Amino acid sequence: MGTRRARRCFAAVLALLGLLLAGCATGRLDATKPIGEEARDIDGLMRLSGWMAVGVGIFVAAAVAVIIVKFRAKPTDDPDDLPPQIHGNRKAELTWTLIPTAMLVFLTIYTLPTVFALASEGDGRTIKVEGQQWWWQFSYDLDEDGHYDIVTANDLVIQTGEEVNLEIHSNDVIHSFWIPQLNGKKDAVPGRIHEWRISSDEPGIFYGECVEFCGLSHANMQMRTIVLTPDDFDRWVQEQLAGKEAAQAAPAEESPEAAGAALFETHCISCHVVDGTYESAAGGNANLLAGIAPNLTNLMSRTAFAGALYETYQTGPDGDYLRNPDGSLKLNLAELREWVRNAPDMKPARADNQQGMLDFSEVLTDQDLDNLMAYLQTLGSEPVLPATNAGAG
Ligand code: CUA
Repeated sequence: MGTRRARRCFAAVLALLGLLLAGCATGRLDATKPIGEEARDIDGLMRLSGWMAVGVGIFVAAAVAVIIVKFRAKPTDDPDDLPPQIHGNRKAELTWTLIPTAMLVFLTIYTLPTVFALASEGDGRTIKVEGQQWWWQFSYDLDEDGHYDIVTANDLVIQTGEEVNLEIHSNDVIHSFWIPQLNGKKDAVPGRIHEWRISSDEPGIFYGECVEFCGLSHANMQMRTIVLTPDDFDRWVQEQLAGKEAAQAAPAEESPEAAGAALFETHCISCHVVDGTYESAAGGNANLLAGIAPNLTNLMSRTAFAGALYETYQTGPDGDYLRNPDGSLKLNLAELREWVRNAPDMKPARADNQQGMLDFSEVLTDQDLDNLMAYLQTLGSEPVLPATNAGAG
């Protein structure tokens, strides 16, 4: 009975462990496949210390097994007769103190250069990263004049081979920025600026998550880094600036876009910004304030919305983007429309407490939503996708 139960228990533990380990490689958030230099450094340290721990574990387990077998009680032993006691044996005490000490000193010496390297500044551009319940904003000061030229959300766009410096801020509570394939975690703390670096030699889309519990939708506070070749990155910058310019032009009168723009002005601009047109929310310089929502100037150029929880464009079963007959990306209109209609239904939020988008289901009619969708589709051109990774993983 006892062994059967033990066996069952063991099987259950194995199954649980299997499940847990399966969670280590979900594909999208995989720290075991480092791409960026910083992530590779961290991965190297993790592997070294991991293998050292495995070695120690095997040695200890083997020693325990040998001792159990070799010194087990024999039927001929007198139960009252104790084996020789070795308490205070200097040789043994020194051995099990000095070996671990030497291993730890070795690990420390080996780790320190990486710690300093991670803390140093890269030679690339600086991007401001702001965490807020429950999404991330990224601001680019292209000519370094203190004014942010591009302000975007969810998609952090960088170019290959550039050591990008991130200045990580928070506008409310503590968040933590993590793109596992590009670097380790860095907290975003209100009132502080934390510097962090990321880079990638390969173009691609690398997924990330907020990894500090920050309230109701912490698990839905995602982001992604879109790594482009330098040529594609330049194109992205030009398209962002062009989108900003285009957003200032008034839509043709009597069009659904114009009706949508009017609705946007009535219902959306107390939280959202469109550069050059609606700058009331952030004073025009993209200093994100608590409770303010993403800058929508180039909404259509982002691969995701709602804290990167939903795809802006439709993807197929293998993650490839679906395309219209004319080659353009297929908009995920149904979810975008539903998000505008009743956001709290798609992502837990507390709009009453300036945390997340309001429910407009009682405010906007179907016609209003169609018009708003028409207007939103005028905001920016479709995303520049990495050359070798056109899929969303
Ligand atoms: Cu932000 Cu968790």
